[in-house]
Amino acid sequence: MKILVVYHSQYGHVETMAKAVAEGVSEVSGAELVLRRVREFPEYVKHVEQEKGAAYQAYQSQQTDPECTVEDLRDAEGVLFGSPTRYGNMTAQMKALIDSTAQLWSNGQMEGKPAGVFTSTATTHGGQETTLLTMMVPLLHLGMLIVGVPYSLPEMNHTEARGGTPYGASTIAGPKGELHPTPGDLAIAKAQGKRVAEVAVALRSKK
Ligand SMILES: Cc1cc2nc3c(=O)[nH]c(=O)nc-3n(C[C@H](O)[C@H](O)[C@H](O)COP(=O)(O)O)c2cc1C
Repeated sequence: MKILVVYHSQYGHVETMAKAVAEGVSEVSGAELVLRRVREFPEYVKHVEQEKGAAYQAYQSQQTDPECTVEDLRDAEGVLFGSPTRYGNMTAQMKALIDSTAQLWSNGQMEGKPAGVFTSTATTHGGQETTLLTMMVPLLHLGMLIVGVPYSLPEMNHTEARGGTPYGASTIAGPKGELHPTPGDLAIAKAQGKRVAEVAVALRSKK
């Protein structure tokens, strides 16, 4: 059973979280991991290729992960979507992927599939919850079953300046992207990937 982890990441934070989510998926017997990146806007690619900065390095390193297609979404039995925040919402690139699912929506092909969302913000209160909650809206229209993160996970109960929400895994990148996902952030991301895959396996056994 294919479990898709699809991420958009311009500086590598969500990419790192996606790798932890993927690790969790891979631990589940019967789950086959499919790791994909979201297609970048051509204008952005042109810009980072000229700048040759940190975003270019991140872009280059992600080229080994194939671009996500509508077929990847159709063929997956569970999906985890990772996007950095843009003014408290997912990125336009991730939204463009989700908006390309009209055919899947009209045929009900995403219905009943478990879905999880994860994110990154620059600052502590930069909109993790709003990003995660608004990412869920189109997924509910598609008929997907939202899977969050339970507080029984020890890493969830903290008051530190790091991520981890019941709506999905998260991390704080820092205003200049200088921070990295903490061990706690990664543990939550891994647990979320595992949970979505476990739900997908359990749902299939009931069919
Ligand atoms: C146009 C734009 C809007 C952003 N809006 C927010 C925001 O509302 N809150 C916040 O904390 N960070 C914001 N950021 C920072 C990004 O969320 C941050 O760069 C990202 O989480 C890093 O993840 P990545 O390394 O995976 O790209 C914004 C960045 C851009 C370019």
